[in-house]
Amino acid sequence: MSQSETVNRKFVLAERPKGVPTEKTLRLETEDRPEAGAGQMLLRNEFLSLDPYMRGRMSDAPSYAVPVEIGEVMVGGTVAEVVTSDVKGFEAGDRVVAFGGWQDYAVSDGTGVINMGKEPENPSWALGVLGMPGLTAWAGLTQIGEPKEGETLVVAGASGPVGATVGQIGKILGLRVVGIAGGPEKCAHVVKTLGFDACVDYKAEGFPDALKTAVPDGIDIYFENVGGAVFDAVLPLLNTSARIPVCGLISQYNATSLPEGPDRLNLLLGTILRKRMTVRGFIVFNDFGHLYPEFAHQVGGWVSEGRIHYREEMIEGLEQAPAAFIGLLNGEAFGKRVIKLG
Ligand SMILES: NC(=O)c1ccc[n+]([C@@H]2O[C@H](COP(=O)([O-])OP(=O)(O)OC[C@H]3O[C@@H](n4cnc5c(N)ncnc54)[C@H](OP(=O)(O)O)[C@@H]3O)[C@@H](O)[C@H]2O)c1
Repeated sequence: MSQSETVNRKFVLAERPKGVPTEKTLRLETEDRPEAGAGQMLLRNEFLSLDPYMRGRMSDAPSYAVPVEIGEVMVGGTVAEVVTSDVKGFEAGDRVVAFGGWQDYAVSDGTGVINMGKEPENPSWALGVLGMPGLTAWAGLTQIGEPKEGETLVVAGASGPVGATVGQIGKILGLRVVGIAGGPEKCAHVVKTLGFDACVDYKAEGFPDALKTAVPDGIDIYFENVGGAVFDAVLPLLNTSARIPVCGLISQYNATSLPEGPDRLNLLLGTILRKRMTVRGFIVFNDFGHLYPEFAHQVGGWVSEGRIHYREEMIEGLEQAPAAFIGLLNGEAFGKRVIKLG
């Protein structure tokens, strides 16, 4: 069933997943299309962003954001068309970036909604390189990474929307950039298309040695997106005064217990102490939301000049969203995953 003018299809959280989400985690429901009241606008979602943080919202473990309740619409960033509006600054036909969720229609009072005008170029990019993942990359690198020309930057999750942007900005800022990605195809893309100096396949045998060879001067900035075994290989290669923006730990999002093996906490803390490293976690909108205009100006400029390449994986149909999301967590995504609803 495709998008209709009278019906709202929506995915609600059916149960909290234990480990990897399954086809039972989300349930497709239909209802009459909602109407916007006074001071509200009706949005028709055209593109839905799929992002790793959604796994966290499915869980009720303590986090920086409230979980989605059972039976509630799954949250998500969207690009939408304004259908009707009683909100100042928005009129029918405008394209907006909103938090419309996994559904066809959403009602909004305009809070947090960005108006892109009637005919924005590449509207879905506002969910990727020019939106939340792009801001995450730019702010994490520039505000926590404190890059200096000639330094070595290592980026995990290098072919994904955040990692790809981090590495390309690193190159623009004069760094030597080494990516870490899963498989030869993604690594070839990272070097040949994105312009990283090297890329190491963490799934290949001998990964820790290959990483060591790729960073002859050690690592000054490690942009952490994945955690787990990748971080274990990075830790001994970090230089004195290294900076680690801790952005994400996707290898752990489906974990149900701590990993097996010896306790490495003292190794980690001892390394931080001896090498006087800075390790700082961040949540993009809490910490750096106020920098959005500066980001949009700088990264928007680089994108329009063709200095930052952006790869998008567009998947047609709302009904595809749950499987596409599970695939994202499993490493199937190659670029930014977006669901096209309209
Ligand atoms: N702190 C914040 O405010 C903030 C904001 C946005 C995103 N993030 C985080 O940033 C990270 C990247 O986000 P993104 O949107 O660009 O997603 P992404 O990189 O597209 O995430 C999916 C990729 O993660 C990699 N991956 C999955 N399981 C892995 C594992 N066990 N070990 C190593 N890599 C694994 C896979 O790449 P390979 O095929 O290469 O393995 C997969 O394609 C995520 O951790 C996300 O949660 C944080």
